Amino acid sequence: MRILVLGGTAFLGRTIVTEALGRDHHVTTFNRGRSFSDPPGVEVIRGDRTERADLERLRAGRWDAVVDTSGYVPRVVNQAAAVLREVAPVYAFASTASVYVDRPRLPVDETSRVYDCAPDAGPDDGDYGTLKAGCERAVVEHYGEAALLLRLGVIVGPYEDVGRLPWWLSRIARGGEVLAPGAPDVPMQLVDARDVARLTVDLLERGEGGALNVAGPSGHPTFGSLLSECAKVTESAARLVWVDDDFLLAHDVKPWSELPIWAPMDAECSAAWQMAVPRAEQLGLRCRPMIETIADTWALMRTGWQARPRPELPKLGIDEDKEQRILAAWRARAGAT
Ligand SMILES: NC(=O)c1ccc[n+]([C@@H]2O[C@H](COP(=O)([O-])OP(=O)(O)OC[C@H]3O[C@@H](n4cnc5c(N)ncnc54)[C@H](OP(=O)(O)O)[C@@H]3O)[C@@H](O)[C@H]2O)c1
Repeated sequence: MRILVLGGTAFLGRTIVTEALGRDHHVTTFNRGRSFSDPPGVEVIRGDRTERADLERLRAGRWDAVVDTSGYVPRVVNQAAAVLREVAPVYAFASTASVYVDRPRLPVDETSRVYDCAPDAGPDDGDYGTLKAGCERAVVEHYGEAALLLRLGVIVGPYEDVGRLPWWLSRIARGGEVLAPGAPDVPMQLVDARDVARLTVDLLERGEGGALNVAGPSGHPTFGSLLSECAKVTESAARLVWVDDDFLLAHDVKPWSELPIWAPMDAECSAAWQMAVPRAEQLGLRCRPMIETIADTWALMRTGWQARPRPELPKLGIDEDKEQRILAAWRARAGAT
């Protein structure tokens, strides 16, 4: 197949490129050449997807499928889908579980309500999930049933440049008493980008379209097994101290970002890890053991790879002082009771 990837150099896009090249597909990447270098073996077209003139140059090519991992603004995705409809018959869009109105308060499946967002909305017309819903609409307007919408949960694995698992690995490798959030038995649904990539290329090869949730099975992993496997992989003697949700919230710890991946199991977030994935499983999603994801991420970090700073995202990771202050307060409370 000939596959065009809009983006393709950071994390998920890069991993899909690698998977496709490994199956001897011809891969073209389209990006500005600013963030990272392109994986070896691709044909590169330099351009800015927000510039109409740059996109127009893609009309000269022919592909069997487009993979868009770099679309966040409906208007921008709309423009790409309009141009590419004539030169590529299938459009796979990296969307998100955040398109669901009720998530993370309630469990969701593919029939759950999605935010209402115009397909030509601009960057200030909504938050991340709302805008991604508008991007989905833009792709569907141009591609109909040939739009493949991958509604992704939390993705981890080598090159994860949000930096969530890398932060936990670095923190646990540093050792000492580690503030472990919530309860060790909280079942998450993480998915390795390489498993997402394998599924994506499978679906492109089979010409599948439509919307599907992509996340690991429930309990893949639990928070407890994630952190203890981080300790195992980094050969750290760190001691995990589990501190409950209410205590963390009372000490102003920001969910998702300060202790990455943690969200309190309260009324607002109790269904954060309840995304049904039957379609992805039926279509062949297989998740490798989490210890492999953790070990391979750590191995890449040890070569010197680092997540790039993402100023557009909330600061990741808790300050050491704050962590130790909370641990001291937790110990004092435990001593007092
Ligand atoms: N991480 C998660 O847990 C998670 C969860 C749900 C959904 N997702 C979705 O998964 C996707 C992950 O993306 P990724 O960063 O891994 O993708 P990627 O394709 O590996 O990297 C982003 C690419 O976009 C390019 N790019 C950025 N702005 C551009 C522009 N104006 N014109 C042309 N190219 C541009 C960057 O290169 P240059 O900067 O060099 O141009 C880079 O190649 C996102 O769509 C995200 O919403 C992620």
